[in-house]
Amino acid sequence: MAACGLDFGTSNTTLGRIVSGVPTLARLEGTHVTIPSAIFFEPGREPVIGRAGMAAYVDGRPGRLMRSLKSVLGTGLIEETTPLGRERLRFRDVIARYLAAVKARAEAEAGEALDTVVHGRPVHFVDGDAEADRRAEDTLAEIAAAVGFRAVSFQYEPIAAALDYERSVTREEIALIADIGGGTSDFSIVRLSPERHARAERADDILANDGVRIGGTDFDRQLSLGTVMPLLGLGSPMKRRELDVPSGYFHDLATWSSINRLYNAKTLREIDETVRDCARPDLVSRLRAVVEAERGHALAAAVEAAKIEASDGGTAGIALDFAQTGLAAGVDRASLAAQTETLARRIAERVEGCLRQAGLGRAAIDAVFLTGGSTRVPHVRAAIVACLPGARVVEGDTFGSVGIGLTLEAARRAA
Ligand SMILES: Nc1ncnc2c1ncn2[C@@H]1O[C@H](COP(=O)(O)OP(=O)(O)OP(=O)(O)O)[C@@H](O)[C@H]1O
Ligand SMILES: [Mg+2]
Repeated sequence: MAACGLDFGTSNTTLGRIVSGVPTLARLEGTHVTIPSAIFFEPGREPVIGRAGMAAYVDGRPGRLMRSLKSVLGTGLIEETTPLGRERLRFRDVIARYLAAVKARAEAEAGEALDTVVHGRPVHFVDGDAEADRRAEDTLAEIAAAVGFRAVSFQYEPIAAALDYERSVTREEIALIADIGGGTSDFSIVRLSPERHARAERADDILANDGVRIGGTDFDRQLSLGTVMPLLGLGSPMKRRELDVPSGYFHDLATWSSINRLYNAKTLREIDETVRDCARPDLVSRLRAVVEAERGHALAAAVEAAKIEASDGGTAGIALDFAQTGLAAGVDRASLAAQTETLARRIAERVEGCLRQAGLGRAAIDAVFLTGGSTRVPHVRAAIVACLPGARVVEGDTFGSVGIGLTLEAARRAA
């Protein structure tokens, strides 16, 4: 039996196993150890995952791109079908296709079958709904079994990240682990030490776990609604002045996991009626153009790229040629912060929640360990760090800590 750790993220996936005693992430796409959690279905062909799938879509090959599939876990949508090429697949089967392909790549590299998995999971898949949360984990366990894992167990993603961090800890400390990803923000407060690291049973060292379903894809949505969608007609009036153009289309178009919902004849007919009855057909016909050409993911990817560039300190242009030639929106760090301030505050509130759960004051936290792509958003990081002014700030491996920690846990459970 070979064991592995699997971090199926909203945006990116990693899979690791122990190689010569060292937790090692598999190269899942070329030399990359991370692979985007994306799958592109083309009629009559095998689906393409990862960067290659996104590139196929961006190149305009006919087919359908699916991203942010993890967001569907725990919601009613997971059992719904979506048209893909000539077939209809349930979302859970789309996730299974994706994870089966990831597993096959890792096995090809390992040269052996991987039949035992420790799967990462957010502290809450769904906020404030324990039943939906349990369903989400059950679904993921069923999918893991369906793709050929014979033994499946789970670990919280921030606890996994803590195990990665603990390898570098030299004396006992209390750390707050912050994992801010694409779909969720997860926190744990843990007691760490070199001696404790060797122990199999760590329940007593976990002082608090908390999380909220807010992540980078929500930043993308807010940024899109704030800067791009008004150029496509969001907030503009109908001819009957007391009404605005219906906002639902814009929300779906700005939300990675909902984009494909717009791609059907009925929605296009409704948008046509809106173009006819609105006061700004020049704007709303841009919405129509994006939906008709099925360019929603290209738009969302452009917004995400602008968010990343603005986070890194640049000023980013979002080219909107697929809506209208020459059209563009601009984003910089200040406008990114302005559009997404509320999200950052709600994330940081969970730090306080975690401290309360642990019964600790902020001074008790020695270190704050940051991992997950959205810790790169400056005001998110600042909001978290500001909650713990006395704590040392430790940079994790942004995209690898959770996968490495799950791999350590898989080895420990297999021993
Ligand atoms: N430099 C950056 N600046 C800002 N955001 C970034 C940067 N790099 C990546 N991101 C964002 O980080 C998110 C992905 O992070 P990560 O890969 O940690 O998430 P995930 O593990 O897939 O999701 P989750 O754990 O929530 O299921 C995306 O929303 C991406 O846009
Ligand atoms: Mg993650």
